[in-house]
Amino acid sequence: MRVLVTAASRHGATTEIADAIGRTLRESLPAVDVRDPEAVTALDGYGAVVLGSAVYMGRWLEPARQLAERRRADLLLVPVWLFSSGPVGDPPLPAEEPPEVADLVREVEAREHRVFAGRLERRRLGLTERLMVSALRAPDGDFRDWPQIEEWARAIGTDLASRHPTRAGH
Ligand SMILES: Cc1cc2nc3c(=O)[nH]c(=O)nc-3n(C[C@H](O)[C@H](O)[C@H](O)COP(=O)(O)O)c2cc1C
Repeated sequence: MRVLVTAASRHGATTEIADAIGRTLRESLPAVDVRDPEAVTALDGYGAVVLGSAVYMGRWLEPARQLAERRRADLLLVPVWLFSSGPVGDPPLPAEEPPEVADLVREVEAREHRVFAGRLERRRLGLTERLMVSALRAPDGDFRDWPQIEEWARAIGTDLASRHPTRAGH
């Protein structure tokens, strides 16, 4: 079974989370692809999907939203896990999950939706974004919790591997 990990990112932090999920899944599953949502034209051949996005102004980024919309019928046929990455600070804020994602969980019958803390570095941002984060009083820093991300991915890997045990040794 092939697994697709795909996540929308504006400044790279969420792509790195998708990469970490992919690396961890490969510990228990042989075929894991990590791809940008724009590069995903069809879900043919994928037996499970992990779909994520960075959150900006309370919303997922367009490429992830579009992929979910475009491929909704296909997503309904396979187990899907969703993640969002955005909250920053200690404790990470905002604490609420993006409202649209609650809808998406229902629409694609996702197994789970997890919110992971993100990374905010003003030096990476354009002027408009800098003004926005200053208005929101959002703190700079990399708040990504790698052990938490890897633990989640490991649980997904265990779940999928138990559904499709490899034939090795039999
Ligand atoms: C202009 C701006 C708006 C943001 N709005 C939100 C938000 O509404 N909710 C949230 O959780 N994070 C918000 N964030 C934080 C980002 O989601 C976080 O920095 C994320 O890790 C960025 O991921 P990326 O590097 O993959 O784009 C915002 C960041 C910026 C720069």
